[in-house]
Amino acid sequence: MRVSTLLASAGLLGSALGGLVPRSFGVPKDNGFPNPSDSQERQIALQAGGKLPGGALPKTLGPGSTVAFQLIAFNELFEVAFFNSLLQNITRGVKGYEVPEKERIEAELIIKTILAQEEQHALGALATLKSAGKFAPSPCRYQFPVNKLDDAIFLAETFTAVVLGALQDANVIFASEGQPEVVRLVSSVIGQEGEQNGFYRIHLGETPSESPFLTTVPAAFAWSALQLFVVPGSCSEDIEKIKLPIFPSLLVNGDPVAKVAPKDQKLKFAANLKGSKSARKYYGKSENLYITYTTGQQLPISVKAENVRWHKDTISLEANFPYSENVMAGFSHAALTIGKNFASADAVPERTLAAPGVIQVRNVI
Ligand SMILES: *[C@@H]1O[C@H](CO)[C@@H](O)[C@H](O)[C@H]1NC(C)=O
Repeated sequence: MRVSTLLASAGLLGSALGGLVPRSFGVPKDNGFPNPSDSQERQIALQAGGKLPGGALPKTLGPGSTVAFQLIAFNELFEVAFFNSLLQNITRGVKGYEVPEKERIEAELIIKTILAQEEQHALGALATLKSAGKFAPSPCRYQFPVNKLDDAIFLAETFTAVVLGALQDANVIFASEGQPEVVRLVSSVIGQEGEQNGFYRIHLGETPSESPFLTTVPAAFAWSALQLFVVPGSCSEDIEKIKLPIFPSLLVNGDPVAKVAPKDQKLKFAANLKGSKSARKYYGKSENLYITYTTGQQLPISVKAENVRWHKDTISLEANFPYSENVMAGFSHAALTIGKNFASADAVPERTLAAPGVIQVRNVI
């Protein structure tokens, strides 16, 4: 089955997803993660090429900073599980992940290093939350809607782009809550994740550096996107402890991650709004509905929803993708919004019915 087909069903069926993807994956079990002993932590640091930050951990965190660290920790735990599964697939030469001997040794080393670096990121975020006496999430079970190496790397490049956008948003919150040292720390991670994405992009045949200013992502959109990878009900704690809204998925051309050519075109959008009480009053209507794109550091770009069709809780529509006017190379995201003229990307979530629709403009499709 194609990735897009699996992902598409995932988006529309929401919690039924567990039944569609037969296997679930967890974090590694052999190195004490996420509670390594001192000697296990030393091993992780050696593999990662660096130790955890040395400064004192914060004793307090503001409300926004707390949620930002919870999102970061939750995401890093997912990434650890992802790269652990990817490493196993490459090492074992699982079907779809066969790499010739010479390249396999190099690929294993690279993915092992990334895995350990993600473990360090997760451990750092969890330690910060614990130090400040805040809820620190435990690993869940995860599902990855891919079964081929190139699709896995494409997915990694996509979720890393989402994280690179969400970390910008986190820095704004840390700065506004007076935590400048955290801004330094998170900026060091932004660079690190950017290095990873350069590598993934080379693997995918794209230029390593995507665009001059990477697309910003509001925390609520990153959190909503992350839910696709979590096996529903598999987290030991209630994820509602993380105070971010989860929006219904917005499929683009039938996919939660659409690959589109670098040109102006019409895109098809669909969402099932069943889970959203606030969406009820818009049912059946088509006026004042927009697709709002966020790309780079530009102000949100809203275009009118066309050919709007409602079927019970499901809405489908079309909208222009104004590629050439706005030069939208690489990753952009879309939200189904009530209204337009947003003053910033941060203003979009409160007028959103479904999001994010993840769009990847590819030169190689
Ligand atoms: C590893 O392979 C399994 C079996 O094909 C697949 O279900 C899983 O998604 C793969 N993991 C990654 C990270 O690609």
